[in-house]
Amino acid sequence: MFLIVGASGLIGNRLYSYFKNKGLDVKGTYYSKPLKDGICLDLNGADFSRILELKNLTHIFLCDGITKIDECKINRNVSYKVNVVNTIKLLGNFINTDVVPIYLSTDMVYSGNEKFYRESDRVSPITEYGRQKVEVEKYIMEGFHKYIILRLTKVFDVKRDGQTLFISWLDSLSHGKTIFSADDIFISPIFIMDAVYVLEKLVSGRHYGIFNLGGKELLTRYEFSKMLAKFFGYDLSLIQRRSIKDFGFVEPRSLFSSLDPSKTIEATGVKLTGLKECFELINIG
Ligand SMILES: NC(=O)c1ccc[n+]([C@@H]2O[C@H](COP(=O)([O-])OP(=O)(O)OC[C@H]3O[C@@H](n4cnc5c(N)ncnc54)[C@H](OP(=O)(O)O)[C@@H]3O)[C@@H](O)[C@H]2O)c1
Repeated sequence: MFLIVGASGLIGNRLYSYFKNKGLDVKGTYYSKPLKDGICLDLNGADFSRILELKNLTHIFLCDGITKIDECKINRNVSYKVNVVNTIKLLGNFINTDVVPIYLSTDMVYSGNEKFYRESDRVSPITEYGRQKVEVEKYIMEGFHKYIILRLTKVFDVKRDGQTLFISWLDSLSHGKTIFSADDIFISPIFIMDAVYVLEKLVSGRHYGIFNLGGKELLTRYEFSKMLAKFFGYDLSLIQRRSIKDFGFVEPRSLFSSLDPSKTIEATGVKLTGLKECFELINIG
């Protein structure tokens, strides 16, 4: 049986639905957004009784946590408890068992001063969120023989019901609202279904270790928003160039938010979906 911790979240939910549709034996946890047949789990505490009751558990996908960069810093005590202390306590129940942890990590374990980091590059986080991710990665690497750590760049979806990168911009454009976009930080977003396929292939192919996954296109947020507007035929004057400093974030943002996906692609054989192909999947209805 697979357990998805955070099956009510963006990535966890897509993974959960994907495995369910395939008829796999999968359970999921939620915290504040109830999930049909799901297990309620609150990592502010450490009551794992409902998880420990599960029979035939083989893999735990950790897709949970406080995931907003500034929130991790502003509410450091709470985020540290949820993202590190109780996540590690949960994992501790599976050390010396055959259960494989699959931890969703981030490019923010790196400093972001360089482009396209590889798995072997030195981690050097510049934010509280990144430091928390490094701490859990380290615990897993030291405690488990078999594990998968998948580091992801910014994940986007094509479903209109969420507030992911391109969708929130499209929502603004379709209402004639101006988009203010930073032209001094670079991102390389990854399509959510590519992440789902990669996770499936890493597990089924028994590939263990650290894997980096990011999109191939590295552009500024401003350039991406212009590309999107052009593709859907919106007025380009709705896109306004800004500096990242104008957004008043509490934590610094990486100059380059990118990862080299070569090792992951080679192991899984997953072909990454091109950005234009993803745009075509968006229902503009
Ligand atoms: N999305 C990205 O662009 C991205 C990029 C790199 C890495 N990642 C990593 O991938 C993982 C999934 O990201 P995501 O964007 O899918 O996250 P998300 O949408 O923010 O979902 C977070 C999940 O964690 C659950 N959760 C929150 N607080 C909890 C608590 N106190 N106890 C138990 N569960 C709690 C949420 O439950 P409720 O919704 O029910 O409250 C939700 O299921 C995260 O570890 C993130 O760091 C994400």
